[in-house]
Amino acid sequence: MNDANQAAYGQTDPGRRWVNLLLGSGLVASIATFLYPAIRYIIPTEVAESTSRSVVAAKVTELKLNTGKIFKFGSKPALLIHSVAGDWKAFSAVCTHLNCTVQYRADRHDIWCACHNGVYDLSGRNVSGPPPRPLEEFEAHVQGEDVVVTRNA
Ligand code: FES
Repeated sequence: MNDANQAAYGQTDPGRRWVNLLLGSGLVASIATFLYPAIRYIIPTEVAESTSRSVVAAKVTELKLNTGKIFKFGSKPALLIHSVAGDWKAFSAVCTHLNCTVQYRADRHDIWCACHNGVYDLSGRNVSGPPPRPLEEFEAHVQGEDVVVTRNA
């Protein structure tokens, strides 16, 4: 390319080169802006599972008899129940059907998933509705003022 052609294409003009650089970097930034979320969606980052096997789910005085409480166990919800008989029970609150969060139903003394009317008994067994498996059960015990829930090894 001779000097006349370079001048015609603006390649020797520093102002033009600067504009081309800005436009090019803007295009790259735009493409990255669109691609990054798509790639993050397709390849999600690993969420580290909590390494803690135990958590304080509640204070003993917090739950009356025949009540339940959702608490966070690692990265997932869990359900603590203080039964009518005074027992402490804990389960994963993630429904085994399609992962909705279950809840304690005090009037029926069971665990209910509102998404598709799935029902579990107080042993975590799936007793009606679409859930295919029991809830994962955790150990719950009183330690001083706290109710400690422990994941089985
Ligand atoms: S997600 Fe719980 S019954 Fe469907």
